[in-house]
Formats: sequence, structure tokens, C-alpha cells
Amino acid sequence: MLFGPHVAVLRSFAESHLTGGPDDALILLKLEHSLRVFDNAGHILDAEGVKGRMADLARLAALYHDMGRFPQYARYRTFNDRDSANHARLGVLALRGMEMPPGLSGHDWRIVRFAVAQHNAKSLNPALPARLELPVTVVRDADKLDIIRILLDHFEGNGEPSQAVIHRLDDAPDLYSEEIYDAIINGRTGDYRHMRYANDFKLLLMGWLDGLRYRSSLDMALERNYPARLLAQLPNDARIRRLGDAALSRISSCA
Ligand SMILES: [Fe+2]
Repeated sequence: MLFGPHVAVLRSFAESHLTGGPDDALILLKLEHSLRVFDNAGHILDAEGVKGRMADLARLAALYHDMGRFPQYARYRTFNDRDSANHARLGVLALRGMEMPPGLSGHDWRIVRFAVAQHNAKSLNPALPARLELPVTVVRDADKLDIIRILLDHFEGNGEPSQAVIHRLDDAPDLYSEEIYDAIINGRTGDYRHMRYANDFKLLLMGWLDGLRYRSSLDMALERNYPARLLAQLPNDARIRRLGDAALSRISSCA
């Protein structure tokens, strides 16, 4: 499949939301994020040796996964879904409103939209049909890998505009929420609704490493040193060290 025309579609859709104002930088960050998630998806699929139609559709879904971010910001001036609307849903609506790109069947396009719809669900739908697992899980891993990168850059001080990244979290250096801590140390997915501190977000991201579906995704996270970099941003106390050990031993048991 030729991806160039699809990259052009994404780019022109994103650029149609530029206003000439200072918020344009935020729109361009979402465009760059989409392109990096597309690259990550290609890398995962290549490393896993997956080829063919479903692999192509997984890459397309990765490219288009955040289409909803552009109308979301235009309409609500925020990327916070809780204050606006589920951006995955907005993305599906945007894709539905577009002319179907050439070279795709209606069935292909529905698979792409389905993976876009599922990309930000807290956990994988247990009723997910096996044939749709590849596009959904590849997009989710590829997206998580780039979100962790963006947030680490932010926490390490090389960051992008903070309002685009952290939504009103208290950045008390030593505090984190018990609910999030308990979920992550026990290998469960943290719940955004319990997030109160910036440290909660870092804990949540540690949990994402556990939840990566593909060995090659985990390898990318390890190559980029994500676990150690996240731990370095958390309070250096005995409980966090225990959580780090638990997460690292789960990750290495997948190796
Ligand atoms: Fe997203």
C-alpha cells in the first residue's frame, strides 16, 4: 500500500485547523505525534514480521488515530476528553465525514475506523474479534510509546507546552495517589479519574509499560530507557523502589 497519499490527507486535515494564532503550535504537535505513532506502528509490524492487508490497515489506523484531536481543539480549546468529548469518537466522525481514500474497500475503511475508536479505551475490549486484534493492539502500543516519550521530555524539562501535556495536576514532588499506586504495583491499569498529582501520571505510564502487547514495543521502550527514566522522575522512597522492582521483574519476565 502507498502511504504517501494518506500522510497528505492527515497533513491537510490538521493544517485546515490552523488559525494563525499561538495555539497553532498545539495543532502541529498533534500532527507530529500522529506521524511518530505511524512510524512506531511500522517499526512494530516490521519487527514482528507481520505483513499483508491487516498490517497495512494497522499502519493506516496509527496514522489516523488522533484525527479527532483537531476538531476537538477547534471546538473546545482543550485536549482533555473529560472537559470536552472523547477524541477517539470525534476521530471516527471525522473519518466518516471524509471521502474514502482510493485503494481501500468500505470494509478496510471500517477496520481503520474501528481501531481508531478503540485506541484510547482504558483496556482492551474482551469481546474484540480476533481478526481485529492486530490493528487495535498495534495502534495502542505505538501510541503509548510516543505518549511516554512526550511526557518524559516534559518531565525532564525538554518539554513541549505544559497545558498540552498535563491537565491541571498538582506537581507536588513527593506525593502520589494510593489508588494509582495500588493499581500499578499489582499490575492493573491505573484509572485516569484517580489522578491528582503529576507523579500519578508517571505511575500510570509505568503501568503502560507492563501492558504493552508486543515484544518489539517493549524492546523500543527499553532501548529508549523508559522504565529507568520514569523511575528517576518519581520520589525516591522505599515504596516507589518496590514498585519499580515489581514492574521491572514483570517486564523482564516477558523477555
Ligand atoms: Fe489519542
